[in-house]
Amino acid sequence: LALSVHFSSSQTYVLDDKGGLGRLFDGIGGLSGGGATSRLLVNYAEPYRSQILDYLFKPNFGASLHILKVEIGGDAQTTDGTEPSHMHYENDENYFRGYEWWLMKEAKKRNPNITLIGLPWAFPAWVGRGKNWPYDYPDITASYVVNWILGAKQYHNLDIQYVGIWNERKYDIKYIKLLRYTLDKSGLDWVRIIASDNLWEPIALSVLLDPELSSAVDVIGAHYPGTTTVADALKTQKKLWSSEDYSTFNDEVGGGCWARILNQNYVNGNMTATISWNLVASYYEELPFGREGLMTAKEPWSGNYVVESPIWITAHTTQFTQPGWTYLRTVGHLAGGGSYVALTDGKGNLTVVIETMTHDHSVCIRPPLPPFHVTSQNATFQLNGSFASIKELQVWRSQFNFKTKTPSLFEKLKPLKLIDGSFTLNLSEDEVYTFTTMTTGQKGVYPDPPAPAGFPKAYKDDFNVRNPPFSEAPHFADQTGVFEYYINLTDPGPHTFTLRQVVTERPVTWVADADQTISVIGDYQWQNLTVTCDVFMESVDSGGVFIAARVNKGGESVRSANGVFFWVFADGTYKVTNDLGHWSDCACRRTGQLASGQLNGYPLWKNAVVLNPKNGWAAIGTRSFELAQFDNFAVVAD
Ligand code: GAL
Ligand code: CA
Repeated sequence: LALSVHFSSSQTYVLDDKGGLGRLFDGIGGLSGGGATSRLLVNYAEPYRSQILDYLFKPNFGASLHILKVEIGGDAQTTDGTEPSHMHYENDENYFRGYEWWLMKEAKKRNPNITLIGLPWAFPAWVGRGKNWPYDYPDITASYVVNWILGAKQYHNLDIQYVGIWNERKYDIKYIKLLRYTLDKSGLDWVRIIASDNLWEPIALSVLLDPELSSAVDVIGAHYPGTTTVADALKTQKKLWSSEDYSTFNDEVGGGCWARILNQNYVNGNMTATISWNLVASYYEELPFGREGLMTAKEPWSGNYVVESPIWITAHTTQFTQPGWTYLRTVGHLAGGGSYVALTDGKGNLTVVIETMTHDHSVCIRPPLPPFHVTSQNATFQLNGSFASIKELQVWRSQFNFKTKTPSLFEKLKPLKLIDGSFTLNLSEDEVYTFTTMTTGQKGVYPDPPAPAGFPKAYKDDFNVRNPPFSEAPHFADQTGVFEYYINLTDPGPHTFTLRQVVTERPVTWVADADQTISVIGDYQWQNLTVTCDVFMESVDSGGVFIAARVNKGGESVRSANGVFFWVFADGTYKVTNDLGHWSDCACRRTGQLASGQLNGYPLWKNAVVLNPKNGWAAIGTRSFELAQFDNFAVVAD
């Protein structure tokens, strides 16, 4: 008697459109802002700046993104800095501040079909009429947001296709309806509304219960959905998007996170767009969530940037699909773990993306990832329906190779010949494959950028720029308030061109901005440094300004920043403090490292003992939300 048992680890997956198609694909995108995540990008010299932009946006080159979402600056701290508003004050309008306009135009230059989205995190104070809340005067908020969309068109010829409500904060049904009404009445009826850039609920339920709200909202956008959705969201029959996701350190595990969610946001959650926070990590790495972008470009002074694995993982989908393609219904999980999606342009083209990311190599920042198991496996794909006659597919592969730490990313393999519409693969763990009829893919490459280097040890800026390309001076990273180039026409002398702090009231905030304004610059590792700056207080009675060294915090923790702060006040007094908020003198009790200060060339104080922090950025700022000017900033570090 011969007993034979045959175990097969191979499984067949049918790709077919006979029973109809799945949802319309809306694209893969990146988010600039929320906040100031592209701050340092703008100061890169050519050709590096264009190279970075090409890796992000150029079709058939790198990430080749389909969507660019930007923050509608609100003058307040929104994670890694503040972004300027187009209306600092009620009677003020300026559509040339910040860098988001520029970024959208650069993206559009490379990909004229890129989808543009705007979303506010914070609002200038006047929008809230004195309250830290944007919905008491919903008509004001709506026209403020619509102005931004109109300005994008009028001054930059940019069509904003989608607009959101208030990032990860409460929505207001009356406001959403009024926003719809205001858009329509302004000739922007084609602009679509995303709600509510938070969780699936309660917005999904609100939409189900309110037909008027339902007709105002086009997309239910959830953040960090962990690839799943909820029944109410499906019931709305709206487009479902992961309108913010990723936020993971961009090493190989970050790439693995991105690979897994790009596929599984559709497989598990029916989401037809996924947007990465953030687009490019172009902020000082020691600010919150350092390097959590698709690539890193945080050294404009050296020109160094790094094309990280998420760029090539993005390419697996973006280079072989477009918004307007449709998912097949035949998508799912692989028997041995991992997932596959398939999309078609409806004209015979087919793109299949497969990922076999293991649990530990694909953990994202949030939400927690439940356990699952992935093993190497054989998988046979059988193409039926319109795809039955496909004879050959292009093959692109990424292998993370965590054991050897030698990832091979987005490599083009030999085309695959199909036999009777079928092909079989040996899939290992931690791989991503694209099989496609599209022959347009390319792994773009530029010569290596310059080597990384620290911030220059001697740096100065006289702000003497008549027509600055950006409203910000290079490398200053505003953490509360907004610092802009300014032409001081009342000063015919040496201070005609200055840097001016312009936020005069505490904004409708997103996190806890400081009560003082502050902009940091330099190298976080700096210990011994000399900061000098000419200062001018515009509040003649109550004004106050500071310059600082060793400032150790920014972002959402800016209120608790420590450092050595040297304050001068309009009433002629001065002070030295260890933090922003407490008006006690610097701790001078023990021996240790010494600080000193001068005013108008005369030593004012010396030998102040500074025990903590041991290192940090240089900074400038004001005592309150007030106008003040800075000139001839210089820092020398050793
Ligand atoms: C999100 C937020 C972003 C950024 C990110 C960091 O919730 O919308 O602005 O703070 O978290 O993980
Ligand atoms: Ca000057």
